[in-house]
Amino acid sequence: MTHVPQATLSQDDLKTLVGRAALAYVVPGELVGVGTGSTVNKFIDALASIKDQIKGAVSSSEVSTERLKALGIAVFDCNDVIELAVYIDGADEIDGHGYMIKGGGAALTCEKIVAAQSRQFVCIADDSKLVQTLGKFPLPVEVIPMATQRILRQFAALGGQAQVRIKGGVPLVTDNGQHIVDVTGLQITDPLDFETRVSQWPGVVTVGVFAHQRANVCLLGTATGVKTLQF
Ligand code: 5RP
Repeated sequence: MTHVPQATLSQDDLKTLVGRAALAYVVPGELVGVGTGSTVNKFIDALASIKDQIKGAVSSSEVSTERLKALGIAVFDCNDVIELAVYIDGADEIDGHGYMIKGGGAALTCEKIVAAQSRQFVCIADDSKLVQTLGKFPLPVEVIPMATQRILRQFAALGGQAQVRIKGGVPLVTDNGQHIVDVTGLQITDPLDFETRVSQWPGVVTVGVFAHQRANVCLLGTATGVKTLQF
């Protein structure tokens, strides 16, 4: 555990701390997988300070790509890379096994792809994200629009309430041209089984449960510093 002086740390400070702490997992001379979100933005900003020591990044979203490039970090296409040493990303929830809910930033599909291509997933999060059981945060699911109503009914049958994510008065369109539904009212007690089952529903592009692509390490920002959880 890295200790910091006792002072009131805001959630933003905690994100900065874990973003910087993640630099220790970046392998010099290699590419790094980069996630999406406000915590990852802190990591990207920190990564700029060692950009000469890395080959570049593989990004999980247009917004992260833009930020990486603006800071002079080369971005490589996922298809041109066989394996990444490490993938650094945030989470909406993470449990004691490293299973996560992700997709609050609507980038879950590309995040899962880059995570699957990486030997190690390092999750960076403030301690408000640590939960006993996944499901309090509305579960994001990327869907093909023609399947939306059917998928809403399937979640209702599981006891959940699903709704289409709206942005600017219309359904949000992901980087992949699809929609997101957010599901509340679920208690995901078996994330591996849940991810396997929901991934098979016709029209589901990606479910925001990351169990098969769980975190191997979580750098958790706490009031007293960064706590490292190994799974
Ligand atoms: C984006 C994600 C993010 O990692 C997740 O939403 C956490 O974001 P933040 O760091 O802003 O809290 O999955 O699709």
